Amino acid sequence: MKSLEKFNVIFLGAGLGLLGVAFIALGLIPSLMAKKVKPIDVFPQQVPEDFQAYYKSADEYRQALFQGRDLYAKEACWHCHSQYVRPVGNESLRYGPVSTVDEYQNRLQLPQMFGTRRVGPDLIREADKKANDWHFVHLYNPRDVVPLSVMPSYPWYFNADKTPKPDAVALVAYLQWLGSWLDTDNANPTVYDTRQ
Ligand code: HEC
Repeated sequence: MKSLEKFNVIFLGAGLGLLGVAFIALGLIPSLMAKKVKPIDVFPQQVPEDFQAYYKSADEYRQALFQGRDLYAKEACWHCHSQYVRPVGNESLRYGPVSTVDEYQNRLQLPQMFGTRRVGPDLIREADKKANDWHFVHLYNPRDVVPLSVMPSYPWYFNADKTPKPDAVALVAYLQWLGSWLDTDNANPTVYDTRQ
């Protein structure tokens, strides 16, 4: 060991050097590239019918989408859900067409929510798969609609009478937005969600 000690400074230098390289390659360059991405505007110009009871203008609705996205990040929904249909394992049979880059070139996907693993299903095409009411009940207590679900309950997004608070509505608006603007005509609706 003693003989290695004389290389201490070199090891330290190499370690710090690699840290610097990692910072540039994984932090600086991607963030500079992200700044150059011109976001596509994929927000509906009108409040979708199902949300007209909650939002009066398209602007209010857009703000809610961002609020929902922030809650999705804050609650670490991405820890159990991916937002990326991979080109392997016949995933497209279950989730629809394989994800493409353009899906992520919008402000709601910066940063993207690819997720880290899949405990629950992929959500990038969640729009319209379920009704809003289903989402509210599911968020309040997943086991009310999916008896064996291991997803946590989020009762704090609801009032004492179980009506959704604005945060719950924003989160569901975000879920119903995911993939809503995609042309999914190629997807065969009968195999779109295998559990239906
Ligand atoms: C511990 C892992 C876990 C976490 C955290 C989690 N989920 Fe889930 N989720 C699941 C599992 C497992 C399912 C499948 C069973 C079910 O439908 O409840 C699921 C199902 C869903 C579904 C239904 C998808 C479909 O089309 O069937 C939605 C929507 C959903 N989760 C949204 C969320 C949101 C929003 C959050 C964060 C507030 C979240 N999940 C956090 C595990 C998780």
